[in-house]
Amino acid sequence: MSPEREKCFWYRGLPVPAETHSLDSLRFAEDFSFRDEDVLAVTYPKSGTIWMQEILPLVLNGGDLTPVQTIPNWDRVPWLEEKRLALVLDQLTSPRALVTHFPFDLMPPSFHTSKAKVIYVMRNPKDVLVSSYFFHQMATFLDDPGTFDEFMDKFLEGRVLFGKWTDHVKSWMKAELGDRILYMTYEDMVEDLPGSLRTISHFLGKNLSDQVIDKIAETCSFKTMKDNKMSNFSLVPKMYMDSDKSPFLRKGIVGDWKNHLNPDQLARFCSVIRKELEGQSMSLPWSLD
Ligand code: A3P
Repeated sequence: MSPEREKCFWYRGLPVPAETHSLDSLRFAEDFSFRDEDVLAVTYPKSGTIWMQEILPLVLNGGDLTPVQTIPNWDRVPWLEEKRLALVLDQLTSPRALVTHFPFDLMPPSFHTSKAKVIYVMRNPKDVLVSSYFFHQMATFLDDPGTFDEFMDKFLEGRVLFGKWTDHVKSWMKAELGDRILYMTYEDMVEDLPGSLRTISHFLGKNLSDQVIDKIAETCSFKTMKDNKMSNFSLVPKMYMDSDKSPFLRKGIVGDWKNHLNPDQLARFCSVIRKELEGQSMSLPWSLD
């Protein structure tokens, strides 16, 4: 990566990282042919993407640990919009599992005509902000986040990966996909992982025994994933991701924002988010205060 190169570029009004995305990869996503049996996890960054990259293959394969123990997360459940997809697409077994950070309006035509299922995972934006701040410190292929205060301004203005949190959430909450979409929260998954896995497996038409659910829950626990080199990004050279600065699997908890936002920042953050959600009929699963 040359130091002079811009770390992010703008694509359809959204900043995307140049290390992992290119105009070719984004065109590939625009032309992607979804199949009816595909499963797509959609997230705004830092809302539980790699967690879903762990969960989906396990649920779809009835608890077979082979994929999560042998294939790195980015090839096991690739991002629709990233460069890797074109390289690994032929190796994906059916039903294919993918992830994306695309807002709804960027989804390709084939997505709309297919019956591909979607799991949208959202997370309290205050914790997304904090997680993203630490991620920008360790991911050297992203811009330095500056101070927490500076980064919060960038976040609220949408000058971060994939733009504003509010736009992303609004776009997918308005998507009229009927029983093709399941809405989950990171918080529910932390509170009751086996219960969340049951909901996901039911949605995907899998009838898994309690024993299999428990095995999957153990494999997808924060602790196990943190030790899984196929999932903890330790295979990525330090010049791109420096876990000494902050591990990718950092805390994995709900409410870490309380340790980082002072009362002024909290008031500013909540007032902007609340204003941007004004007039929306959607209700959020957590209080913004
Ligand atoms: P923290 O930085 O708050 O720890 P994404 O994969 O969308 O980038 O999201 C990363 C966030 O999800 C990080 O949050 C990471 O720790 C958390 N995460 C990943 N796997 C998890 C798990 N098994 N349990 C709880 N949190 C998890």
